[in-house]
Amino acid sequence: MNVIEVILTRRSIRKYSNKEIPTKIIANLLEAGMYAPSARNLQAWQFVVINNRGLLNELAEIHPYGKMLKQAPLAILVCGDKMKDESEGYLSLNCAAATQNIMLAAHSLGLGSVWLGVYPKENRIEPISTLLKLPEYILPMALISLGYPDEILPKPERFSREKIHYNDQWYK
Ligand SMILES: Cc1cc2nc3c(=O)[nH]c(=O)nc-3n(C[C@H](O)[C@H](O)[C@H](O)COP(=O)(O)O)c2cc1C
Repeated sequence: MNVIEVILTRRSIRKYSNKEIPTKIIANLLEAGMYAPSARNLQAWQFVVINNRGLLNELAEIHPYGKMLKQAPLAILVCGDKMKDESEGYLSLNCAAATQNIMLAAHSLGLGSVWLGVYPKENRIEPISTLLKLPEYILPMALISLGYPDEILPKPERFSREKIHYNDQWYK
């Protein structure tokens, strides 16, 4: 698949087979995350790889829309490092770019994934930080649930001319 195909055919996958994800593939995903663009190229992110069944089950309980974690063999928590960049706005944008990179890489490698929002919801940030024993300067931004897909979702139609504007012609 070329990159446009990867982007257009990626879907949020919430059902997984019980096949384990090889270590080499996990390294590919993390590297893809680390090649995301970041403000001032600070790369102020950290990644927590969660493959412990007990922790995945607890995360499924904590996250209000994260029940698929009970089936997922892996999750990656993308975090911002407040010691490296004090701007939470930029941290969240950088981590969003890293999250998308990981999800696109996952799809290209035959994996399914879904983005579970964490930041800026305090009622998710706090219990996840406690469960995973994160340092206080680490801000969890996005939790990615991953696994080999056990569902195939069609490509919806999303291209919309109404969302496109040229130059100063918005009101015309
Ligand atoms: C910031 C953000 C938070 C999201 N949170 C959740 C979530 O908590 N649970 C979930 O199942 N999907 C979550 N999603 C996935 C969206 O529901 C999904 O991307 C959207 O429905 C479009 O579907 P697609 O990813 O298949 O294109 C989230 C996506 C984003 C970008």
